[in-house]
Amino acid sequence: MPSIFVTRKLPASVLARLESAGTVEVYAGAGAIPREELRAAVAGKDALVSMLTERIDQEIIEAGPQLKVIANVAVGYNNIDVTHARSRGIIVTNTPDVLTESVADFTWALILAVTRRLSEGERLIRRGEWKGWAFDFMLGAEVEGKQLGLVGLGRIARAVARKAPAFGMKVAYAARREADLPGAESLSIDRLLNTSDVVSLHVPLTPETRHLIDRRALARMKRSAYLVNTARGPVVDESALAWALREHLLAGAALDVYEDEPAVHPDLLALENVLLVPHLASGTTETRTAMADLAAENVIAVLAGRPPITPVTS
Ligand code: GLV
Ligand code: GLV
Repeated sequence: MPSIFVTRKLPASVLARLESAGTVEVYAGAGAIPREELRAAVAGKDALVSMLTERIDQEIIEAGPQLKVIANVAVGYNNIDVTHARSRGIIVTNTPDVLTESVADFTWALILAVTRRLSEGERLIRRGEWKGWAFDFMLGAEVEGKQLGLVGLGRIARAVARKAPAFGMKVAYAARREADLPGAESLSIDRLLNTSDVVSLHVPLTPETRHLIDRRALARMKRSAYLVNTARGPVVDESALAWALREHLLAGAALDVYEDEPAVHPDLLALENVLLVPHLASGTTETRTAMADLAAENVIAVLAGRPPITPVTS
């Protein structure tokens, strides 16, 4: 029987499915598995089901010489040294598609929440500081007729774009590769930052996208614009963002992801014009179950000598 290691408790139905393909061992601790335990756990395992909280680098990969597959329960796979895994003949898989609508909906939740100052208003009520309705109190910005600028044009960006007509937003995008999105305008990243009322990030984290949104990029944005990040924290230079928000170089930001999770830059915590949520974009019961199911299917396929459903190809 092949042996499978799973780094977090997953739904019982998913574990049962994995048990049809091998002996399953699950890390039983409450949070992320400590690195030392992960290193010990992968020894002698044929498959690893990992989460985005584990750094699967050269050292971990070398500790599991028998590994055939690393199935990440996430669409992003910047936590895995894919090149090194491949050099050892290990197949890496992710969970695209099943989370697309969930993340796109969440992106819209953030867009509407930050432009209408929902978290700011909620904080004020909870502090007991609401003095009552007033004509010019806590006014936000409309999205109708404004430009949504998408950075990246993968599945999630496309799903966000598909929902834009419901809110009357025009869509523009900046994509590295030649890509087409009917009804939307293709712009250079600089032009996109210059002209968009909401800038939403949908790029994977790679050496090229690390700190893509730095001081220079933030300074290009309209003072009335909002930045939304549901991609990966390090795509944004958090200290530059705190500076830009403090200087009112943009109107606000909504973040679901952070440079050093679960830490959040202290300067951001002190600002009212930033909405902060704890990496929740794919976090519905339905989607998380579908992600775990897909990861399990990938493991089962590889262990059976079949191609996985969603291999990481880049
Ligand atoms: C979540 O961040 C994911 O990549 O699935
Ligand atoms: C990213 O991988 C996406 O699916 O948009």
